[in-house]
Amino acid sequence: MAIRKIRYIGDPCLQKVCKPVTKITPSIRELVEDMFDTMYEARGVGLAAPQVGILRRICVVDVMDDDPILLINPEVVEATGEQTDDEGCLSVPGKCAKVTRADHVVVKSLDLDMNEVIYEGDGLRARAILHEMDHLNGVLYGERASEPYRDLDEEEDWEEE
Ligand code: NI
Repeated sequence: MAIRKIRYIGDPCLQKVCKPVTKITPSIRELVEDMFDTMYEARGVGLAAPQVGILRRICVVDVMDDDPILLINPEVVEATGEQTDDEGCLSVPGKCAKVTRADHVVVKSLDLDMNEVIYEGDGLRARAILHEMDHLNGVLYGERASEPYRDLDEEEDWEEE
């Protein structure tokens, strides 16, 4: 288990378009394990590789629904409905803002054997998937928010993505 250093807003890694994974190497496997460890340690519900300084199209999502997801080279197949809610990000600590996103998504991804897998998500799961996929294109949620970042209420038990 290894915890990687999370990059914060202002770090150039968070503004880059990440490259696709072309081959599953031992270092990719290690990165994926470390990303899950880092996400859980930080009590986040998602993490994208550029958030730990690796510019590859990989993200992990776990919205505590007993179905953690690994996304490699993910693509949105379907996005329907609409939801607006507060969102946060491990790379923008202590902040939140309201973001409108699709309420239901279907995404196509690769697994660690480079086989195609399909994941679906509703509500928070859809939001987290779309938030993490934005990171792969160098987009932070603040760019999609309808308002500036607000300070998080310390009392609020918010799950950061
Ligand atoms: Ni984020």
